[in-house]
Amino acid sequence: MSSSPAGGSGAPGERVGEPLVEVEDLEVHFPAGGRRDRRVVRAVDGVSFTLARGETFGLVGESGCGKSTTGLALLRLVEPTAGRVHFDGTDVRGLSRRDLRAWRRRAGMIFQDPYASLDPRLPVGEIVGEALDIHDLHQGKQARRARIAELLERVGLAAAAADRYPHEFSGGQRQRVGIARALAGEPDFLVCDEPIAALDVSIQAQVMNLLAELQRDLGLTYLFIAHDLAAVQHVSDRIAVMYLGRIVELADRATLYRSPQHPYTRALLSAIPVPDPVRERQRERVPLVGDVPTPLDPPSGCRFRTRCPEVFEACGRVDPVLQPVGPGREGGGALPDVGSDPRAQGHLAACLLHGETGRPVERSDHRDAREAAPAG
Ligand SMILES: Nc1ncnc2c1ncn2[C@@H]1O[C@H](COP(=O)(O)OP(=O)(O)O)[C@@H](O)[C@H]1O
Ligand code: SF4
Ligand SMILES: [Mg+2]
Repeated sequence: MSSSPAGGSGAPGERVGEPLVEVEDLEVHFPAGGRRDRRVVRAVDGVSFTLARGETFGLVGESGCGKSTTGLALLRLVEPTAGRVHFDGTDVRGLSRRDLRAWRRRAGMIFQDPYASLDPRLPVGEIVGEALDIHDLHQGKQARRARIAELLERVGLAAAAADRYPHEFSGGQRQRVGIARALAGEPDFLVCDEPIAALDVSIQAQVMNLLAELQRDLGLTYLFIAHDLAAVQHVSDRIAVMYLGRIVELADRATLYRSPQHPYTRALLSAIPVPDPVRERQRERVPLVGDVPTPLDPPSGCRFRTRCPEVFEACGRVDPVLQPVGPGREGGGALPDVGSDPRAQGHLAACLLHGETGRPVERSDHRDAREAAPAG
């Protein structure tokens, strides 16, 4: 357990594999909008996972599935409605405003759009410098300027870039500025929200290489958000697939690509082209028709049922929960002893066809009961 929310974490690599970010039953609900409208947007609706220090955890799903809201909620950049978020033993939801500010040093965010996320009125040095000021780091003009130069050079920009404005840079360079800003507080953890999706294909690899290098050198832990499985294929240690506010499958990268269990994961995977033209012609495609339904009114039972090619009668009644899949679990056998390493959690899927080895849990009943309970 960390002694203070802003406490350091030791040398890179020292505690690799230990749980760093623990998320349990996270919910983020937004008001629907209208004054008389009592409905809620269930953007994130009961999500649990644990990130191990030093790993890259991919979070994948189509647009509108709740990925960004999950990332923002972990950093309390949006307030969770319910659930538990622990960071290196600190209860993030319990932090006072002051402690939250101190804690934010340790966790940063890289945004999707390097054009929109940098203030066009500020020179790049000030954009990075502001992040130092927020955390009361590097008092004194000279030390501040030296640290800004160091951060810019760390991300592959010249120190002289400090005096130029965002519009003078290419998309890739602007994303480097965004990364320098995120590194200002010397964080342990970064949420990378589709950091290359808005960049030219030719420079995507450069930014990915930079992120990999920083992870190696600084011992960073990444939550890496993407809207397709191709984008996280080569970078993630483990991957969670998200659909309509829920995680529907979670596995280490090799297992997920080799043996996807959830029909949604299979559909996302089948959209990735294969470089070999013969295999590309032969491969099975599972077309994903229609759009993600609105989180204002998710389908009853399994939320994927309105688009699932394998849907059957029970899917409208039973809301499947994440369950272990794989050898030894079909008969409902004991879970493997995984110790404290969250990477050993195994392969989980939420589909009545796969992984529903125990008694089905009808989550909607739980929710109705909770909402019917008197407040306070
Ligand atoms: N501040 C907000 N108020 C209302 N609805 C929101 C808000 N932010 C996001 N949403 C809704 O929540 C759902 C999930 O959004 P988001 O987390 O941005 O998804 P993703 O990043 O997977 O595309 C979407 O339906 C989106 O419209
Ligand atoms: S539970 Fe039913 S609808 Fe949902 S993914 Fe499985 S087969 Fe498809
Ligand atoms: Mg998003």
